Amino acid sequence: MTTRHSAVPAALITQQARDSFQSTSSARLREIMQALVTHIHAFVVDVGLTEDEWTTAIDILTATGHITDDQRQEFILWSDTLGVSMLVDALAHPAPDGATDSTILGPFYVSGSPVRPLGANIAEQEAGTAAWIHGTVRGIDGAPIAGAELDVWQNGDNRLYAVQDAGAPDDHLRGKFYTDDDGRFAFQAVRPVPYSLPDDGPVGRMLAATSRHPWRPAHIHLVVRAPGHTSLTTHIFDADSPYLHSDTVFAVKPSLVRTFTEHADDDPDRPVGVDTAWVSLKLDLVLVPSQTDDGLVVDRGRTH
Ligand code: BEZ
Ligand code: FE
Repeated sequence: MTTRHSAVPAALITQQARDSFQSTSSARLREIMQALVTHIHAFVVDVGLTEDEWTTAIDILTATGHITDDQRQEFILWSDTLGVSMLVDALAHPAPDGATDSTILGPFYVSGSPVRPLGANIAEQEAGTAAWIHGTVRGIDGAPIAGAELDVWQNGDNRLYAVQDAGAPDDHLRGKFYTDDDGRFAFQAVRPVPYSLPDDGPVGRMLAATSRHPWRPAHIHLVVRAPGHTSLTTHIFDADSPYLHSDTVFAVKPSLVRTFTEHADDDPDRPVGVDTAWVSLKLDLVLVPSQTDDGLVVDRGRTH
């Protein structure tokens, strides 16, 4: 005689998985794990996930692990292209009125950029149209911030960041600058161009399978750090760039879109060493003071 096992109801499986975390000593970890289980189970039930689809999902996660190394971060690409990075950013940085908006860090940030003198060029080899970027870092009270650090990186006109480009010096198109006593900074960069995020891995296959494109609008990255202020991770987008309305990682905020001014090659204000047409951008950045719950000012700067 065969015994018929009654199907275990989905709700019971979910309850058992949630209960397995009940003894977690960290209340926050317990909350996260139980919510994770609840939402993943609801997703599986919602879409009626088949065994084949589940196997495919495991294969995708495995491929994501295999392609990830010190230079290539496919997990961040998943987070970015699914909008999770922007959601986490929105929760973490509700910029008060007047403060510069934040946006995602992206996978091409490399710590340890060289400190360069104000006015220096971050392009260590030919990389496109020269761009003179200058402005002031202030607090939301309007006071200039002396000694603020601008950690800057961008891609060149071959669309690559130095970290992706075997033919480029390690420090090409990146650098750190410190504001002067009046909070002012200036550096030479290149006009950014749109680029495709790396689409030869599982994220690229997801984008192709869902008829999405892999492009980002032209931008320059900045992390601005100053004692007593929350570090600002942001981009400046070129207002003339394609893809501003369809950034594949949803990172464009209207306040970060800026118009570059075009200059002729013989403009007397051209930066040192520039003898072709160039662009400039005045960029004022506003940081938020960092505060603990008891009102003490601390620097909660990001660690990378
Ligand atoms: C970037 O801006 O560098 C970037 C952000 C998300 C995905 C890929 C690249
Ligand atoms: Fe970028």
